[in-house]
Amino acid sequence: MSVITKQRRLTPQQLIAKKQRGEKIVSLTADEYSTANLIDQPGVGDFLLVGDSLGMVVLGYPDTLSVTMEDMLHHVKAVSRGTSQALLVADMPFMSVHVDLPSAVRNAARMLQEGNANAVKLEGASELTLSLVKHLTEIGIPVMGHLGFTPQSVQTLGGFKVQAKSMPTVKQLVEDAKALEAAGAFAVVLEMVPSEVAAVVTRLLTIPTIGIGAGVACDGQILVVDDFIGRFPDFKPKFVRTYGKMGLQLKEAVHHYATDILSGEFPHPDTESFHFPAEELEALREFEETYALQEPVYESC
Ligand code: KIV
Repeated sequence: MSVITKQRRLTPQQLIAKKQRGEKIVSLTADEYSTANLIDQPGVGDFLLVGDSLGMVVLGYPDTLSVTMEDMLHHVKAVSRGTSQALLVADMPFMSVHVDLPSAVRNAARMLQEGNANAVKLEGASELTLSLVKHLTEIGIPVMGHLGFTPQSVQTLGGFKVQAKSMPTVKQLVEDAKALEAAGAFAVVLEMVPSEVAAVVTRLLTIPTIGIGAGVACDGQILVVDDFIGRFPDFKPKFVRTYGKMGLQLKEAVHHYATDILSGEFPHPDTESFHFPAEELEALREFEETYALQEPVYESC
């Protein structure tokens, strides 16, 4: 009898165990099937986040505020079809979890029921967010928090700015992180906070911190995949390390493609074209000749 071993996705508990063992957590964002499929290799991506940053890098919005539940679900579904091992985390977009608890719970549940996500991510630690984290965790929806620079609050934060740069704001950050942990969050993203502060938060929490612009002491790191592969041309934040030149390669490829078309080099007559049966070519030629003779001649008026 053959045994079928089914690939198992990483779980939030395994992420916490990684922190306990001092193992770093590797993660990236993903927004469509092919990229998710390429990233989802054994031992490489612990979790994949379908982040609302897709509003900027995929949909071309100036920030993440315009992203809707339907936008997110469309991409979460595509990414879920491309992954089998990484834990799949879906970002809750602006206003999907901010009106009241019942609508927030329904929206979070849609990410799992319709999108096949394994967990959701919420920004901030407001009273509503904390009670939502508690409730979602109790009903079986794992939650990742997100503190520091929270892009959905870009208007109140006055732009894309480093956070927790003074002692009162550090204290607030630590309290928020502890409150998220107490409410049941299984990890917290720390975005754009000084490395020293992220190190303190990381030491004070039992759940993992995932840094993006928060230094090397975090338990794990995440980058937006388009930044990571060098495909987002609009701007490059200081904390991004680019591991590919896909944007440049794409531009060069398009130039090459255009040159080949204009010179008649593409498509190749043998390797990139299909052919009519040789024994029928004479019939094809005769058909063309007869058809051309029958064509009506239009007189100009
Ligand atoms: O939306 C996103 O991509 C994120 C990451 C920056 C963590 O929230």
